[in-house]
Amino acid sequence: MNWEEVYTSAKQWVIEAGEIIRASFKRTLTIRTKSNPNDLVTDIDQQIEQFFISKIRERYPEHKIMGEEGFADRIEQLDGIVWLIDPIDGTMNFIHQQRNFAISIGIYEHGIGKVGIIYDVVHDELYHAVRGNGAYLNDQPLQPLKERAVKESIIALNATWVMENHRINHQLLIPLVRDARGTRSYGSAALELVYVATGRVDAYLSMRLSPWDVAAGAVLVEELGGVVTNLKGEKLDFVSRNSLFAAKPGLHQVILEKYLKKGNW
Ligand code: IPD
Ligand code: CA
Ligand code: CA
Repeated sequence: MNWEEVYTSAKQWVIEAGEIIRASFKRTLTIRTKSNPNDLVTDIDQQIEQFFISKIRERYPEHKIMGEEGFADRIEQLDGIVWLIDPIDGTMNFIHQQRNFAISIGIYEHGIGKVGIIYDVVHDELYHAVRGNGAYLNDQPLQPLKERAVKESIIALNATWVMENHRINHQLLIPLVRDARGTRSYGSAALELVYVATGRVDAYLSMRLSPWDVAAGAVLVEELGGVVTNLKGEKLDFVSRNSLFAAKPGLHQVILEKYLKKGNW
């Protein structure tokens, strides 16, 4: 497989998709709800997913595609080359704010992340990496991540996880929130992973994400020396929904041991 060509094509299509999204700001969106009243999808999410599918099928008919909006393949295991696509990550932000959302594309070979691309459309910031070749923001190389203590860290997490919930004993997270320098919540898993990759935050955790939310971001964070697992410290499988914990090297281990592993969950 000519990965350089796949990488170049993917980046080009992401830029084109970003132009379609920017053009949509001027018109009225068709908005529907999915699993619950806060789970939103627009005609643009669907249009962008279909745009990628048609480009990939035309150029790489042997590749498989996993996408959030249901137009792609039904994937139960990651054999061969699989594109994991979230056409708009942060749809609620897209609708309410017209910012703080991103296109996210991960390309995996036999379950290993090879390419990660996240495009912050509004800021025209393209984050991209091919495993082993460094990670970039537009043309600028991103710097490897350095260790950091919890008390100097900013942790990205959603406030709902620090309230009683049925996914994690929220009592475990309260000391972490108290000990950290600060917390943030941006409403786009892809951007929150980019913020870990760029060092804007030091860790990100979430209780339930889909493979397309994290596939690209995991490649970027790992390429810079960060660690990406579920909240138990286990490897992600990228075919099912899972919890997520991404952090700087060292900090990942400390948070796991000192906070997350304390509860028997
Ligand atoms: C959502 C965002 C959000 C996360 C949700 C995801 P979507 O993706 O990444 O930050 O908390 O779990 O579903 O639906 O906007 O693509
Ligand atoms: Ca998403
Ligand atoms: Ca989405």
